[in-house]
Amino acid sequence: MKGIVLAGGSGTRMYPATFATSKQLLPVYDKPLVYYPLSVLMLAGIREILVISTPTALPALRALLGDGAQLGLDLSYAVQTEPRGIADAFLVGADHIAGHETALVLGDNIFHGAGFGEVLRRGRAELVGCTLFSHPVADPERYGVGEVDERGRLVAIEEKPERPRSNHAITGLYFYDSDVLEVARDVVPSARGELEITDVNNVYLKNGKARMVTLGRGFTWLDAGTHESLLEASQYVQVLEHRQGVRVACLEEVALRMGFIGADDCYALGERMVNSDYGRYVMEVARQAA
Ligand code: DAU
Repeated sequence: MKGIVLAGGSGTRMYPATFATSKQLLPVYDKPLVYYPLSVLMLAGIREILVISTPTALPALRALLGDGAQLGLDLSYAVQTEPRGIADAFLVGADHIAGHETALVLGDNIFHGAGFGEVLRRGRAELVGCTLFSHPVADPERYGVGEVDERGRLVAIEEKPERPRSNHAITGLYFYDSDVLEVARDVVPSARGELEITDVNNVYLKNGKARMVTLGRGFTWLDAGTHESLLEASQYVQVLEHRQGVRVACLEEVALRMGFIGADDCYALGERMVNSDYGRYVMEVARQAA
């Protein structure tokens, strides 16, 4: 399975903070926002990942993550010249995903919960058509919303409905079979002028090939697309990391635990950042694994 991190968008909702940088490079407590969605793909066992962003932000993302070899990944990069919609990611990434199953994650989505890696790997192994991940929220009208019947089966998906028919927000993580490129090519821009991911998902649903995995109460899902939500996410991560002494979305640790890199490599990555708590944490994780 190939991966895509969609890390573009105009960022205008966060001006002036995003005048000179992209939202996905802003810190969520101790690391850049993009680390969180990237760690999700890594936990799913995906190593060939395309990062899509704007012409201005892409060089900085490349400077941050490089070719991914240090993490045992194969990272590539592509420009989305205009924010034409989330489903445009498949068209921009056509060469990367053609003929492959694909996981797409939005660059501002943060997931956390015990056993999430297992959920992801199972979702991948059992994929038929597309798998969506939902999470209960208090304000479903802000999201794609999945409606389920009395037997818990997905029957409809609506994008930002005025009157949501459930509280199941569809999160920004999507698994697709190798048909997704073809499906995306047939999608036409919505009333707001975007190629909607919800339209892609509805094609799968109409063909009886969309499944929804509900991430229950034990999971946290945050999208850090506003100043408030970015600050909340930072506070969440800070409390968790201080209290538990473990780090969320530490890419070096994930790479080590997934067997993408060895303990020596991991230690060396930490050593480069020895002046930061994050770096010393990476060194300690490597030491314990050696
Ligand atoms: O976060 C989950 C939600 O994401 C889903 O529930 C919705 O169904 C889905 O449409 C999307 O809703 P948003 O309103 O959050 O989408 P937004 O336009 O904010 O884009 C999400 C991220 O993707 C954002 O960080 C910017 C990036 N993006 C977006 C577009 C439209 C791109 O990189 N390129 C784009 O063309």
